[in-house]
Amino acid sequence: MSSLDVPREQWATRAGFILAAVGSAVGLGNIWRFPFLTAESGGAVFVLVYLLLVALIGLPVMLVEFVIGRRSERNPIGAFRRLGHPSWKFAGVIGALAGFIILSYYSVVGGWVLQYIVASFSGGYGGDPETFFVETASGTDAIVSHAVFMGLVAGIVALGVRNGLERAAKVMVPSVIVLLVALAGYGATLPNANEGYQFYLNPDVSTFASDAVSILPAAAGQAFFTLSLGMGVMITYSSYLGEDRNLLNDSLIIVAIDTFIALLAGLVAFPFLASQGVDLETGGGGAGAVFISLATAFESMPAGHLVGGVFFIMLAIAALSSAFSILEVVVSFVIDTFDVGRVPATVGITAVIFVVGIPTAIDLNYLDAYDLFANNILLIVGGLVLSIFIGWIYAPNALEELGQGRTGDGAFDAYWINVVRFVVPIVLLYTVYLAVVEYVEFIQGTFL
Ligand code: PHE
Repeated sequence: MSSLDVPREQWATRAGFILAAVGSAVGLGNIWRFPFLTAESGGAVFVLVYLLLVALIGLPVMLVEFVIGRRSERNPIGAFRRLGHPSWKFAGVIGALAGFIILSYYSVVGGWVLQYIVASFSGGYGGDPETFFVETASGTDAIVSHAVFMGLVAGIVALGVRNGLERAAKVMVPSVIVLLVALAGYGATLPNANEGYQFYLNPDVSTFASDAVSILPAAAGQAFFTLSLGMGVMITYSSYLGEDRNLLNDSLIIVAIDTFIALLAGLVAFPFLASQGVDLETGGGGAGAVFISLATAFESMPAGHLVGGVFFIMLAIAALSSAFSILEVVVSFVIDTFDVGRVPATVGITAVIFVVGIPTAIDLNYLDAYDLFANNILLIVGGLVLSIFIGWIYAPNALEELGQGRTGDGAFDAYWINVVRFVVPIVLLYTVYLAVVEYVEFIQGTFL
């Protein structure tokens, strides 16, 4: 109990919070998942819907999490108790469950990145990037690298070496941007680059309305995933935030950096996919799309293996800082709920998550099964519940909290609370409905 009386430890600098939040947001979601989902979901229309959702839903929901975190100075489980509404802590349970499932396959993909680092520095991708990916993605190597990745994340969480991670994020973000810009420049010189850009950037307005509905769950899931929303990560990070900080400014910076990196990754992936003859119109590529096209690029460019090695190291740092934020939420949940110590909790959860991830490392079908459920359903439900809480139960206090650290802007505040009350719940409810229908079909059809 006494910890309640001690002033909450805060981020040492403004950059500390932004770096940690950006470290969580920027990861495999931007560089692997975004291009691959765009390829699978029809290209430019998907990109447009995703961008709309980031602005219209993602940004307001990020502010919802910031308000809850800074107001309560607690992680998602403790937050609702502290705010006087303990029964809402089920939102934290949804988040912890989502994190648990997401990390199990996130770590498998993180393991692929580790394997690509080793391959880059030890002679390349076997001359055939496609075969190399298949061999990397499933089987013993995939299980071993999944174990190594989980071990690294657990080490960071158990030792509490978050500072090191923040310093790494400081190097990672600019490096990733520089590397992606360079690769995009190289991609622009490829023979069929234009086809790739067409697919990626030129939406077909005539079918937009009907396409938009069918891709809504995927685009919403991606918006939440890439911004680390719906799980309570941003609640936790903002719980260390001082009252003098401008939440709106910070959220704009985080969303802008995250979105910029995703769009850049697309500018790299699509010219390469097109020039490799991948049939984009039929959704070609799959989960391996980005890995295969990047490896092909590194294979063909001057000093490519060195550039590839550096690129995959940066990607691993990006993935680790995201995975860290997920494990942190799950571990805090278990510590608070079952009253166990940090180290045993971390070790135990890591072991279970490792086991849960093994099917993904054997059969890529599980990636979809886990990902669709945790992402398109659980994260969205999490965001929905948090928004209803702020919009309908806690609005006056939330508005006061949002206004702290900012010279007032009544117009934005009114816009925000109305979006949180009406637009977010309506859009997300509809999204969840579509996602559940889609999931049932997927399980009955493709999966079983
Ligand atoms: N945002 C991270 C990424 O894009 C993944 C993530 C999802 C992290 C949910 C935390 C919570 O890679």
